Amino acid sequence: MGRIIACSNHKGGVGKTTSVVNIGAGLARLKKKVLLVDMDPQANLTQSFGVNDPEFTIYEALKGEHALVPINADTNLDVIASSLELSGAEMELSSEAGREYIFTELLDPLVDKYDYIMIDCPPSLGLLTINALTAADELFIPLQPHYLAIKGLTKIIEVKDKVKKRLNKKIEITGVFVTQYDRRKILHRDVVDTINTYFQDKVFNTKIRDNIALAEAPSQGTDIFRYNPNCFGAEDYMQLCKEILKRHSQSK
Ligand SMILES: Nc1ncnc2c1ncn2[C@@H]1O[C@H](COP(=O)(O)OP(=O)(O)O)[C@@H](O)[C@H]1O
Ligand SMILES: [Mg+2]
Repeated sequence: MGRIIACSNHKGGVGKTTSVVNIGAGLARLKKKVLLVDMDPQANLTQSFGVNDPEFTIYEALKGEHALVPINADTNLDVIASSLELSGAEMELSSEAGREYIFTELLDPLVDKYDYIMIDCPPSLGLLTINALTAADELFIPLQPHYLAIKGLTKIIEVKDKVKKRLNKKIEITGVFVTQYDRRKILHRDVVDTINTYFQDKVFNTKIRDNIALAEAPSQGTDIFRYNPNCFGAEDYMQLCKEILKRHSQSK
């Protein structure tokens, strides 16, 4: 059974998509079979792998038109594409019975085919994110080291708690990590201290440094390991992947 990890934070621009792309690519390089799911109508994950105009997307699957169709992006790495049409899904599915479970049901036939399934959530806490949290075993929260970053988390923790109570008993926050980190900034170091105090052992030791190559790679339709395997971004995401695998081997 694959581990299902939702990557969410309702704040935009914190590094959700960059992290799902590069954790996925890193785990695939470490010989894990990985499925990445683009649950965001902005379709940045889909575009990051150079998939344009996909024939099958998550939108039609959620509407019941077909099953989830993984697109192969690289060795050991498949992607479920999204499209702008997905922005209508929350409204269109709002009166459907069992609407929170639609994605769980769709994912079910694929779970045994992968070691890791990671879901890139949109920057909101609506029905799409609820569907991701209902299917997931774990929740990863990427954060920028800003003063207000932690204050904003109250809301996502509240939603996770409700999902846990009513829809999915398994879900746990298992990985909080900092992105776009600059250790020369006192503010960044202070925020990391606060995050460690608050989330304790749920915080990954690895911090993803601010690295322009991470912002450039998507324009080439590829991940950081293909774009520039020697940059800080590749180093940090590979270290994070190893930390994820180590934690999982310890918790088995
Ligand atoms: N560690 C980093 N260093 C530099 N730029 C980054 C880093 N992480 C993300 N970015 C850039 O910041 C922007 C927001 O990141 P993104 O992953 O799209 O966030 P989200 O999915 O949370 O909205 C993007 O332009 C991305 O390329
Ligand atoms: Mg995104």
